[in-house]
Amino acid sequence: MTCGQSRGFFLLLFCLLCNSGQTCPSVCLCTSDTVSCSSSGLAKLPRSLPSFSVTLDLSHNQLSWLGPRSFKMMPRLENLWMAHNQINALSYGVFQNASGLRCLDLSSNKLQVLEQHYFQGLWRLEELRLFNNKIMQVEAGTLTHLSSLKKVYFSFNQITYFPFFSIQDHSHPFLAMLDLSSNRLTRLPWEDVKALPGLVQRGLYLHNNSLICDCAMYSVFWHWNLRGYDSVKDFVDEHTCNIHGDPRASIKFLHHNRVFLNCTVEKAVMQPVTVLLSSVLVLRGKKVRLDCQTSLSGADLSFTWLSPSMGFITPAGTNGTLISMFPNGTLEIAETSVNDSGLYICTAVDIKQALNATREVNVTVLLPAAESFNTGYTTLFGCIVTLVLILTYLFLTPCRCSNCKQPAAAYNHSSLSSVFFSSTRDQPKVETFKQVAFMEPVIIEEEATEWLPES
Ligand SMILES: *[C@@H]1O[C@H](CO)[C@@H](O)[C@H](O)[C@H]1NC(C)=O
Ligand SMILES: *[C@@H]1O[C@H](CO)[C@@H](O)[C@H](O)[C@H]1NC(C)=O
Ligand SMILES: *[C@@H]1O[C@H](CO)[C@@H](O)[C@H](O)[C@H]1NC(C)=O
Ligand SMILES: *[C@@H]1O[C@H](CO)[C@@H](O)[C@H](O)[C@H]1NC(C)=O
Ligand SMILES: *[C@@H]1O[C@H](CO)[C@@H](O)[C@H](O)[C@H]1NC(C)=O
Ligand SMILES: *[C@@H]1O[C@H](CO)[C@@H](O)[C@H](O)[C@H]1NC(C)=O
Ligand SMILES: *[C@@H]1O[C@H](CO)[C@@H](O)[C@H](O)[C@H]1NC(C)=O
Ligand SMILES: *[C@@H]1O[C@H](CO)[C@@H](O)[C@H](O)[C@H]1NC(C)=O
Repeated sequence: MTCGQSRGFFLLLFCLLCNSGQTCPSVCLCTSDTVSCSSSGLAKLPRSLPSFSVTLDLSHNQLSWLGPRSFKMMPRLENLWMAHNQINALSYGVFQNASGLRCLDLSSNKLQVLEQHYFQGLWRLEELRLFNNKIMQVEAGTLTHLSSLKKVYFSFNQITYFPFFSIQDHSHPFLAMLDLSSNRLTRLPWEDVKALPGLVQRGLYLHNNSLICDCAMYSVFWHWNLRGYDSVKDFVDEHTCNIHGDPRASIKFLHHNRVFLNCTVEKAVMQPVTVLLSSVLVLRGKKVRLDCQTSLSGADLSFTWLSPSMGFITPAGTNGTLISMFPNGTLEIAETSVNDSGLYICTAVDIKQALNATREVNVTVLLPAAESFNTGYTTLFGCIVTLVLILTYLFLTPCRCSNCKQPAAAYNHSSLSSVFFSSTRDQPKVETFKQVAFMEPVIIEEEATEWLPES
């Protein structure tokens, strides 16, 4: 195709390509910032690729090896899709001069050992997809300098060892998803796992491995389950372990915990597990009910409240007084007085498991409207002033509607159907294939919960 044949925008685009001596390889489709060479039967990289691309799609080809500085001519490259190829090794310095990469998809390939040098220099890399390879070993330094990592997918490999110690708070501050499910892990260094940053623990997927049932393992999952981590909650049935390492004696350990009755994990946890803070505003003289909702649930709970005005309150100690307590832990103050303001702390105790959890409620008793008229009047005046200011701002500020729409995907990729279809967009949607944990992790501040010694 020559420049003269196209018109308009395409004329301009192709002329730009011609002028800079760049051509779109004949098997690829090149748009403004994307080059798609997927399903083109490529056995090696096209000799010249346009330097302007941000996204390069090489998925569903026959590539088997990538040489040094394969992408050196593409300084703007951010997304590299190479799923469904035959890649079994990467040479030294493969990504040299491609340090802008943010998403690298090497899923459904034939990688066996992840060598230390593979991802060298990719310090901006946020997402690394390696699921469905033949990976048996991950060398200790492989992820070390990838300090921008947010999500790493290792599921559906044959990993027997993973260097958990190489993942630390200062080296991987943003890592919130580490998917190691459906591998061949048997014994994990549980002390290293417990030392992982809280964000990583919350996003660590370990189901469908060949874990050996023991107390150290059970204790870790028991804690994660108690904290309601999605990694555990969403895959309860897939959390299995083998008794004495025998694959025929596999149990779903989150359902059948009788094997672990002799473990000391449950007895060791004696401190409050979770503290939920909340505050309640109530008018003086009105009734208020405070629920004792903690992280514990079940029929075997007993409750105690510590109130600012009356000290400890138990259900037995509240007959006929203004404060009463229901068996389910709910505290009721029939008629609040100003002196009832303050911090109420409820402790729920699970006698069977020797666990207790607390909840704090900050109660503020307000004076009724008549008594607080002056305050109300001042507030009203403040409101009016604010309203006037807001209106002034709205009318005086010219409205400029910025063009903040995301550019639409330049081409349709959904025609490729496969179990592990590779997404060409920046943000992968929640995949329908549930085993690969493609979920946006909910980033919640880690509770100030300590690991407790297991005696
Ligand atoms: C590639 O990177 C090397 C050092 O890593 C640098 O010296 C060289 O100039 C870079 N080349 C290009 C084309 O950016
Ligand atoms: C569990 O992992 C094995 C491979 O290790 C895989 O074949 C199987 O499909 C996985 N099962 C589930 C339910 O994901
Ligand atoms: C727990 O310990 C008791 C006594 O030490 C023993 O009889 C029992 O078999 C143990 N149970 C399990 C599941 O290991
Ligand atoms: C909660 O556990 C602690 C042990 O850390 C214990 O001292 C305290 O009495 C327990 N609270 C209740 C209400 O049982
Ligand atoms: C609760 O009532 C019983 C009798 O109804 C009485 O004996 C007991 O002292 C009362 N307890 C309190 C704390 O008032
Ligand atoms: C506890 O019981 C009281 C009275 O039966 C009820 O009003 C309240 O909603 C219950 N609280 C919870 C959290 O179930
Ligand atoms: C509140 O407490 C103060 C002193 O602690 C007391 O003088 C006052 O009578 C109390 N008010 C009510 C309504 O109980
Ligand atoms: C409780 O709420 C009041 C007013 O809303 C506030 O001044 C006080 O600091 C709060 N106390 C705690 C312990 O949060």
